Amino acid sequence: MLTRFLCASLLCLAADTGGIDPFVIKPYVQLGNSPKLQAREELSILWHAADHDANWSADYLPAGKSNWSKAQMSMLRRVDAKGIPAHRVYAAGLRDLAPGKAVRYRVSLDGKVVFESAATARKAANQPYRFAVFGDCAQGTAEQKAIAYQTFQTKPDFVAIAGDIVYSKGLISEYRQKYFPIYNTDTAGAATGAPLIRSTLFMASPGNHDIGGGDLGLTPDGLAYFLYWMQPLNGPTSLASPGSVPATGVIENVEAFLKSAGTQFPRMANFSFDYGNSHWTVIDSNKQADWSNPALKDWLQKNLAAAQSATWRFVIYHHPGFNSSKAHFGDQWMRLLAPVFEQGKVDIVFGGHVHNYQRSHPIRFVPEPGKWRSVVPGMWTLDKKYDGVTNTKPDGVLYIVTGAGGARLYNPEQSGDPASWQEFTSKFVSNVNSLISRSASRSPDRLCLK
Ligand SMILES: [Fe+2]
Repeated sequence: MLTRFLCASLLCLAADTGGIDPFVIKPYVQLGNSPKLQAREELSILWHAADHDANWSADYLPAGKSNWSKAQMSMLRRVDAKGIPAHRVYAAGLRDLAPGKAVRYRVSLDGKVVFESAATARKAANQPYRFAVFGDCAQGTAEQKAIAYQTFQTKPDFVAIAGDIVYSKGLISEYRQKYFPIYNTDTAGAATGAPLIRSTLFMASPGNHDIGGGDLGLTPDGLAYFLYWMQPLNGPTSLASPGSVPATGVIENVEAFLKSAGTQFPRMANFSFDYGNSHWTVIDSNKQADWSNPALKDWLQKNLAAAQSATWRFVIYHHPGFNSSKAHFGDQWMRLLAPVFEQGKVDIVFGGHVHNYQRSHPIRFVPEPGKWRSVVPGMWTLDKKYDGVTNTKPDGVLYIVTGAGGARLYNPEQSGDPASWQEFTSKFVSNVNSLISRSASRSPDRLCLK
């Protein structure tokens, strides 16, 4: 049904524009700067179009209403990166939405509908929901397309990406080749991808590949994460995280980027949001972000302390501290935050970076004192009684690596070889790409994982 509906809207597009696609990038859903649940929710629809004045408009029809409402339109930013034709990012705000309810939306040019889809407002604390998590995804591989299709089939309310969103340097050109065409296809299929982001909310944390184009002299269209995502800006201010994300190189390129990104850079590297009965803290684990910095650590502690009324507290970032893969084994610096997560009663920490699936036993970890920047020695206490099926009450934090979202797999030979795993690892699947798809329980006493 959904596929037929979307095809019909495309026919409409061709008819109204003489067959010329009016979009540089078709519309996609974003949360915007809306970290907290609201009695009346809002969503933003973003699209990219050519850099000239045009008569764009959008309207929307919440489920149960009979009249379309006019969306609040804005030109979010003009992107003028050397080597890429200048273009504009538009945003339409869908306001006054009932939590968890569907909303249809239409984007029009010169008064004619050129795109139509539907989304769902963020769910309230008492509404059931399903989410998917994967990382290390947009590499343009067959596996990325298959995972996109699988994700689509699980019908998540939202998707969280654990970094390395786009390979290999998070460039505008790479978003156009490997991200938007696969997560916003017109029809769903294992060989092509799925029409996900036009209807499903995607959230993301930046990985090393997403900031890998930070030398804007070498890659003037780098750091596209800060141009194309519209996520909450409730993280620490740029002054609190000096140098957390590089933007260097030729001065005019840096100035052009800063002008386009505005307040999103670098603040959108760290933020939090609530969805249903869960609180998500999204942080930048790239090596430039020094989490021993008291200002950053203080923000994280306060963020978790303020979320104690949530049923679930999840943290997501790219570099996993607890990893049994031979690949990236030394990238352990995020272990330093384990005591903060334990104090903040975090249930699960999601990571990527390592291209496979790993789940730890519940861990309590005491790092050895020191300013560790790679391997972090320390003492762990493991709850091996927790199995997620009969014993569903973990004593400690579960660390999950879910970096098999589409990129080439790491260490497939370790999949059936527990002797090669660290003591803290309970599951390890590295011979197939994967995603996590979960419904959140209403009970904080039952963390069920098979
Ligand atoms: Fe990575």
